[in-house]
Amino acid sequence: MQICDFFCNFAPKMENLYRQLYNWYAQNHRDLPWRETEDGYAIWLSEIILQQTRVAQGLEYYRRFIARWPNVEALAKADEAEVLREWQGLGYYSRARNLHKAAQMIVANGWAPFPTRFEDIRSLPGIGDYTAGAIVSFAYNQPYPAMDGNVYRVVARLLDIDEAFDTSAGKKLFHKEIERLLDRENPRLFNSAIMEFGALYCTPVLGDNCSICPLQAQCLGYAHGTAELLPVRKPRPKVRDRWFTYHIYIKGERLKVKGERTPVYTLIRRREAKDIWYHLYEFPCEEHSGVQSTEHRVQTDFPFTHLLSHQRLHARYIIHKVQKMPEIPGTLVIRWDELNDFALSRLTLRVLDTMRASLPR
Ligand code: ADE
Repeated sequence: MQICDFFCNFAPKMENLYRQLYNWYAQNHRDLPWRETEDGYAIWLSEIILQQTRVAQGLEYYRRFIARWPNVEALAKADEAEVLREWQGLGYYSRARNLHKAAQMIVANGWAPFPTRFEDIRSLPGIGDYTAGAIVSFAYNQPYPAMDGNVYRVVARLLDIDEAFDTSAGKKLFHKEIERLLDRENPRLFNSAIMEFGALYCTPVLGDNCSICPLQAQCLGYAHGTAELLPVRKPRPKVRDRWFTYHIYIKGERLKVKGERTPVYTLIRRREAKDIWYHLYEFPCEEHSGVQSTEHRVQTDFPFTHLLSHQRLHARYIIHKVQKMPEIPGTLVIRWDELNDFALSRLTLRVLDTMRASLPR
């Protein structure tokens, strides 16, 4: 009903929608390096990084990756450990593993410098409909939609869709609608503009934006007063709390320049359990089965809080200065300055930062 409303009454105004959207984009878009290239490889890299972080931080990673591996052959030849190391800090390392694996598949299939068919790109590990659509539209101007979270929000509001977009039925519905909205003459421009419009203007909290929105005349969510309530998500699973104590064993201390002391040896281990941070390294970690404490105790005793999608981790660390390293199965004694060579979880990095700051100088 509602959607028919839009397309029946507004279809003749599709041109207006495009014009308004493109005007807005021309005046407001950010200049980003992956928007200045038609290299599928570079665009792919940017999209994978941007699935994991915001543009400001993503830019640094993108520049580092491109500088180190300027094309797919170079990335395919890298060691997986190097790629993980470069990815460090972004979290969710399976994206980095897939990036590397996909580069090797592209080369093995003779698709270098980069495949151009949607189906070939979509068949690679770590690439779903969104990423494949983003690559073929941004790089080759092919008429495929690229529905990221920003686009879902804009579409839900424009068409006043109150179906959850993160269910399979919802996704189907949204995809049907974006296929109708897509500007087949200018898919690169359309996808860039609607995505940027969602990122910068049609934001989750709207403030006064609706009242002066350039798409107001086309927006059913505005007409019906529902815009800010949209899009709808399915209910989220409850967040689970976990408590960790990291044991940082230090053997020896070395005096460095400016009187700074650093440990000489430490002990780390690789996570092997089918759990978060699979195959990443960390200090030996003890998990507590529920500290039934008040908020106050949690904050004072476990000063690090780290949010994952469905888990809230509370962490603390204890430094053990030892003469002899304890024998803990599966651990590895390394020199302190070798820590940088291992892919560490983001929480471990945060702990390290704090700990380094507190080392006597
Ligand atoms: N987020 C995801 N893809 C993006 C892109 N190409 N530009 C800006 N932000 C993005």
